[in-house]
Amino acid sequence: MHMHRYEKWWLALGTGSLIIFLIILGISAFHSGHTPPSAQAYIDPEQVDQIAPFSEPGLKKVEGRDWDYELVVVGSAFYYFSGEEIKVPLNSRVKIIATTKDVVHGFQVAGTNINMMLEPGFISEYVTTFDKAGEYLVLCNEYCGVGHHTMKTMIKVVE
Ligand code: CUA
Repeated sequence: MHMHRYEKWWLALGTGSLIIFLIILGISAFHSGHTPPSAQAYIDPEQVDQIAPFSEPGLKKVEGRDWDYELVVVGSAFYYFSGEEIKVPLNSRVKIIATTKDVVHGFQVAGTNINMMLEPGFISEYVTTFDKAGEYLVLCNEYCGVGHHTMKTMIKVVE
């Protein structure tokens, strides 16, 4: 097969830039310590209601941590269990701790970059500071069944 010289150059340029891109990506991933989310803690999804902290979902003030509050949420078709209405004081640092009892659910807080997948048996965590007052819609973004579109809750950030 005959290949034009320019065509060879073009092919080499394409392949070369792909290799360079992958090398940069690899080095930067290792350098920044990126790892896939791993199961640091595993719990029995059938016992979620008996296992702390999921035995008492809701927002709690904590002392001596890098965050002021812990928000414990249990997802289940088609609700989020988080105790009473979630009212977070403005500018407080909150660790969200969530899991699910049945199937995979999502935990996305609209208008923020909080977006977790809740998997049965795994604990998803995210630490954030709510620095804007208002009402935040939390919704499920993983298709979980016929009631998927109704699965939502609210986080109120109050002054
Ligand atoms: Cu829960 Cu979709």
